[in-house]
Amino acid sequence: MVSTENKVVVVGAGLMGTGIAHAFASSGFVIDLVDNSESALEKARLSIESIIDVGVELGKMSASNAAKAKQNLSVSTNLKQSAQNASLLVETVSENLAVKQAVIRDAIAVMAENAVIATNTSALSVTEIATAALAPENVIGMHFFNPVHKMKLVELVLGIATSEATVATAREWCDALGKTSILVNETPGLTTSRMSAMLGNEAMWMLQEGTACAEDIDTALRMGFNHPMGPLELGDMTGWDTRLAVLRYLHSTLGEKFRPCPLIIKMVAAGRYGRKTSHGVYQYDEKGQQIPGSGLKGSAL
Ligand SMILES: NC(=O)c1ccc[n+]([C@@H]2O[C@H](COP(=O)([O-])OP(=O)(O)OC[C@H]3O[C@@H](n4cnc5c(N)ncnc54)[C@H](O)[C@@H]3O)[C@@H](O)[C@H]2O)c1
Repeated sequence: MVSTENKVVVVGAGLMGTGIAHAFASSGFVIDLVDNSESALEKARLSIESIIDVGVELGKMSASNAAKAKQNLSVSTNLKQSAQNASLLVETVSENLAVKQAVIRDAIAVMAENAVIATNTSALSVTEIATAALAPENVIGMHFFNPVHKMKLVELVLGIATSEATVATAREWCDALGKTSILVNETPGLTTSRMSAMLGNEAMWMLQEGTACAEDIDTALRMGFNHPMGPLELGDMTGWDTRLAVLRYLHSTLGEKFRPCPLIIKMVAAGRYGRKTSHGVYQYDEKGQQIPGSGLKGSAL
């Protein structure tokens, strides 16, 4: 039975780790956020506090709950210390199998018996990631969505060995966070990443071919299909570096239709990852606001 007595450790303090840590801390769980970069941890802590403060300003959270949420969060570069007796580890480090497996190997020795190990991978194999654990039946995919404090869905992903008990516990964690969970059998790209990668890649091909400018491609999907956000805006938010890693994996597993558009490869080579580098398909000011008219013009490429 999941309760606020359970200790949670989130590993990886990037875009997703920040959001996931906020979700746990503001739902009453004591959580350690771990990263090997001090600066990533400091940035994450400030960002989590800012999301909490905005929640109070908007009347979504009381000042006392906000203070508790801030107290619930600790940041650390020491994984082994933070994972001590944890009931749940959510790994959300960079999308790289070896890096994810190394984190799990380091943590399991000190975690609570029957602890659940969740991976937030967008596209890698949960079964393969789980081979790093002593008990692969305790490993499950918990795929959160960005921005975590706004997105309700978590895809629970079954590896070949994932046990029913682990699924039941993972569902409880999702309920405790106020998230809706769906169950997906492991398959490259799950339900969502596969469709999103295809849409974003296709939008980039259109931009590269000069079909329309970035703003108009995004407007087409927002106004024509009622998508809350266009695929290029979404790629800027996800990060084209992460998107490229996902596309490369889907290309290698599902075939030619997922070949990454060369424009994405060029942008990543230039460090234009999107919002996190203030420059992607669009440019962003120091407050993170999109600069009007800054979107790539297909014909100028
Ligand atoms: N970006 C998205 O929209 C999104 C959505 C769902 C899932 N995901 C998945 O979440 C994971 C993280 O993605 P992100 O966008 O947050 O990436 P990111 O690059 O923003 O953050 C990754 C973090 O992991 C840290 N890290 C790397 N190796 C580490 C190690 N050995 N120990 C501790 N920390 C380490 C890095 O310092 C960095 O802070 C990936 O698996 C990605 O596929 C991403």
